[in-house]
Amino acid sequence: MALITPYGGRLKELYLSSVEATEEKAKARDYLSWDLTPQQLCDVELLLNGGFSPLEGFMGRADYECVVDKMRLVDGTLWPVPVTLEVSESFAQQLKTGASIALRDATGVLIAIMEISDLWLPGKTYETDKCEPAGKNTLSGWNYEHPQAGSICVGGKLKGFEPPGHYDFSRHRNSPAELRALFRKMGWNRIVALQTIGPMHRAHVESAYRVAEQVQANLLIQPVVGEVKPGDNNHYSRVRCYEHIIKESPEQMMTLSLLPLASRHAGSREAMWRAIICRNYGCTHLVVSQDHIDLAQNCQRNDSYDGEACDLINQHQDELGIEMVPLQTMAYVQERGQYMPVDQINEGETILNISSAEFCSRLHAGLDIPAWFSYPGVVEELRKTYPPRHQQGFTVFLTGLSGAGKSTIANALTVKLMEIGGRAVSLLDGDIVRKHLSSELGFSREHRNINILRIGYVASEITKSGGIAVCAPIAPYAATRREVRDMISPLGGFIEVHVATPLETCEERDRKGLYAKARAGLIKEFTGISDPYEVPENPELIVDTRECSPDEAVHQIILKLEHMGFIKT
Ligand code: PPS
Repeated sequence: MALITPYGGRLKELYLSSVEATEEKAKARDYLSWDLTPQQLCDVELLLNGGFSPLEGFMGRADYECVVDKMRLVDGTLWPVPVTLEVSESFAQQLKTGASIALRDATGVLIAIMEISDLWLPGKTYETDKCEPAGKNTLSGWNYEHPQAGSICVGGKLKGFEPPGHYDFSRHRNSPAELRALFRKMGWNRIVALQTIGPMHRAHVESAYRVAEQVQANLLIQPVVGEVKPGDNNHYSRVRCYEHIIKESPEQMMTLSLLPLASRHAGSREAMWRAIICRNYGCTHLVVSQDHIDLAQNCQRNDSYDGEACDLINQHQDELGIEMVPLQTMAYVQERGQYMPVDQINEGETILNISSAEFCSRLHAGLDIPAWFSYPGVVEELRKTYPPRHQQGFTVFLTGLSGAGKSTIANALTVKLMEIGGRAVSLLDGDIVRKHLSSELGFSREHRNINILRIGYVASEITKSGGIAVCAPIAPYAATRREVRDMISPLGGFIEVHVATPLETCEERDRKGLYAKARAGLIKEFTGISDPYEVPENPELIVDTRECSPDEAVHQIILKLEHMGFIKT
């Protein structure tokens, strides 16, 4: 039996031949260049390699509106999600229809050229309203997340030079044509695609086996590795986990291939869209896994499509040519020592389960994770990626007025943490940073925010690498402190300490004589005197240097760190 045909009958690969490419490349030197965002680069890759067949480029206005309204292209082809290129207004002002632009990656490599057929302003509210089924929330925000580059849409056909470069897991990256060739070679013609965004444990794998058995197909684990959500960028660990699973699975049963898709989070429409994409890759069935544990966020994420998505796809099955298969929930039965579909478990039998929250806390605490729950290779991999807290990096962010005692505490804390040992400690004191990192900045709101975000960036890099950053700026604005917290929290610990020494005390001490100058109007925009300080609402810790010595303040911080698990006693 032959492989399933691509959607629309033919795989639309949009790459130029080498002769054409040389010619077009010479012309492209005179074109305006657009640097593609990571999401747009994903779209371009799938347009060029035929993953989005039968599309031949970014949609023009008519296709876009028809897709939004009726889930169809103007020619009547079922297509549920707009694929548009948004550019900034200033860039769009230089464009006109009929002209061509060069599309480049972040390093300036020419990926494709596009002949502009349309330029228009998309109606975002219109789009979201139209796409969201009444009373349902599955699509909310989808168009706001993507694309993000600007607000003007540019439509037109693409001509490709080379696929966007990937340096990671090239052995698992295949174009639709390459994957189809692989399937042919292996003699597979019924293939069920499992598109996942999280690590898989035994229950997920058992469910996948079950589905494959039911529909008599081979399995393709097709992890979505385009930018899924901000912060959700650790596909490296996920893919290594899938590699372990492939190793453990029966030979010739499943394979792994990465899908560079920028997800739209568009609910049922997204499910249909993915059905089209996986058909282009040669699959006959699509299953989307039930739920996933988001280890960085410590929570369970659900990327399954509900019954409605299955119904929608099955309603259009003749057109899509793909069957959507729901996953059956499997549970481990202690007496039988095996996984069973939940509806086949007898009363009185013991189901063993580890909730996602418990799994995360076991991982963070370095506790045992039983082999019935996951594969040793997977657990080992996740332990490396998500080490227990006492092995993670963290940032202690001291904030407070000038003269509150931040620097003294920060210095003492740095030394104490070095004494404890185990991680490299870096001190990012306000004055030091202003000398080395922010020497050109003043004290306007804008400059203070730039300063704090620079500190946050450096601290996030230190935290990510497993070190400790001790920061001690005034950081007067709550929104900027929040931004720093959000930047660092997914990478390790973030402990905000409000050094809450009151203004009167700071002014009384006036170690640097700055308060006197500020009162005399010699220093403008001085925090607490002529500039605001927004008191932290929920810091991890509050210390007041009127009531405790620097030593005692450090002791309180260390206790807090111990309590949170970042320091092991
Ligand atoms: S901020 O707001 O976080 O960017 O400030 P920061 O980088 O921590 O710098 C604060 C130190 O700069 C000195 N200084 C001033 N502080 C506040 N307002 C004004 N206008 C100002 N001008 C100079 C002051 O010595 C601060 O040091 P600390 O260590 O906080 O006392």
